[in-house]
Amino acid sequence: MGLRQDVERVVNATQELYRRNVFPSMKVGFGKYSNNIGHMDFPGCFRCHDDNHKAADGRVISQSCDLCHDIR
Ligand code: HEC
Ligand code: HEC
Repeated sequence: MGLRQDVERVVNATQELYRRNVFPSMKVGFGKYSNNIGHMDFPGCFRCHDDNHKAADGRVISQSCDLCHDIR
C-alpha cells in the first residue's frame, strides 16, 4: 500500500477514535470523570476503605488488602 493510503488510514482511525471518546457538546473528554476501579489514578475503594471511616461501635471500614484480594 502506498504512503498516501497509509496516511489516510491513520487520519481515519484517529478521527474515529476521537469521535468515540470526545464529546465537545457535552464537555466530556479524556480524564473528565474519575475512574474508581483500581488504586493507581483515583482513590477508588479507598474513598471509604481507608481504616478511618468509623462506626459508633468503633469498627472501621478496612483497607486490608486481603479483604478484596487473594494474595499468596
Ligand atoms: C461509599 C463507601 C464505600 C466504597 C466506595 C466501597 N465500599 Fe466496600 N464497604 C463499605 C462499607 C460501609 C462496608 C461494610 C463494612 C462493615 O460492615 O464492616 C463495606 C464492605 C465491603 C466488603 C465486605 C467486607 C467484609 O468484612 O465482609 C467488601 C468485600 C467490599 N466492601 C469491597 C469493596 C470494593 C471492592 C470496593 C471498590 C470497588 C468498595 N468496597 C468500595 C463502603 C464502601
Ligand atoms: C476495598 C477493596 C480493596 C482493597 C482493600 C484493596 N484493593 Fe486493590 N484493587 C481493588 C479493585 C476493585 C481493583 C481493580 C481490579 C480490576 O481492575 O479488575 C484493585 C486493583 C489492585 C491492583 C492492580 C492495579 C490497579 O490499581 O488496578 C493492585 C496492585 C492492588 N489492587 C493492590 C492492593 C494492595 C497492595 C492493597 C492493600 C494495601 C489493596 N489492593 C487493597 C480492590 C481493593
